[in-house]
Amino acid sequence: MTRKLYIGTNTKMFQTGSEAEAFIRRMDELIDDIRDRLEFFFIPSYTSLERSVKAVGDRIRIGAQNMAWEERGQFTGEISPLMLDEIGVRFVLIGHSERRHVFRETDEDEARKIRCAADHGFTSLLCVGETAEQKNSGLAAASVMEQLKQSAGTLKAEEVPGKLWIAYEPVWAIGKSGVPASASYAEEMHGVIRTALRELFGPNGDDIPILYGGSVNPSNAVDIISRKGIDGLFIGRSAWDPERFDSIIREVLPVFESRNDD
Ligand code: PGA
Repeated sequence: MTRKLYIGTNTKMFQTGSEAEAFIRRMDELIDDIRDRLEFFFIPSYTSLERSVKAVGDRIRIGAQNMAWEERGQFTGEISPLMLDEIGVRFVLIGHSERRHVFRETDEDEARKIRCAADHGFTSLLCVGETAEQKNSGLAAASVMEQLKQSAGTLKAEEVPGKLWIAYEPVWAIGKSGVPASASYAEEMHGVIRTALRELFGPNGDDIPILYGGSVNPSNAVDIISRKGIDGLFIGRSAWDPERFDSIIREVLPVFESRNDD
């Protein structure tokens, strides 16, 4: 069986509900002939989730940008797994760089969310990535391994198949002021992450998809996806125009499918 390409976008705090709905309806049309070859996902703001689910049903996986670690309680401003589940959302982004660095979430916070997501049958897309400072001090591999261990280490090996995805997103590569990682650097770090996942989860660690994110754009996407061990792309800005996103997907898909990782 051919592997599927993992690809999707998080719209951060950009699209309103009507914008998100128009976007995902258009993507649904555009990718129709290739959707079976993709694990395609869309992660809009909370207020866009329900209408996105209604617009595309189970044809496209819709995820939340964050989630609390409790079902209910005195947590003003938080969203519970029960609330997401009720509207058909069972996929959640945990520990995005902006959550960690703008909102000061810690690995301990991410660990509680990952635990809660697993307990509710959600699939988590856990983001890890080193800062520029850590990279410049030669600590990239150690810091990413530590984040994985601290955030996902409470999961048991039998809990991860299909339920844990990883995005490697170096902090220095993300967003407007980010510099994309070179394809060879991304490949090297994906290798580090794979080793850490095997240490944590044994053979099940081999099946966890690892996506690259951070300033993926039309000129570097093919180079990145041509590298071994990169199971997909997690794209921000360059994905927010449907036609542009679709053309990136169509360029990378054959390269990904013809890659031999053995
Ligand atoms: P970017 O965002 O592609 O705009 O750098 C990536 C991300 O934040 O996941």
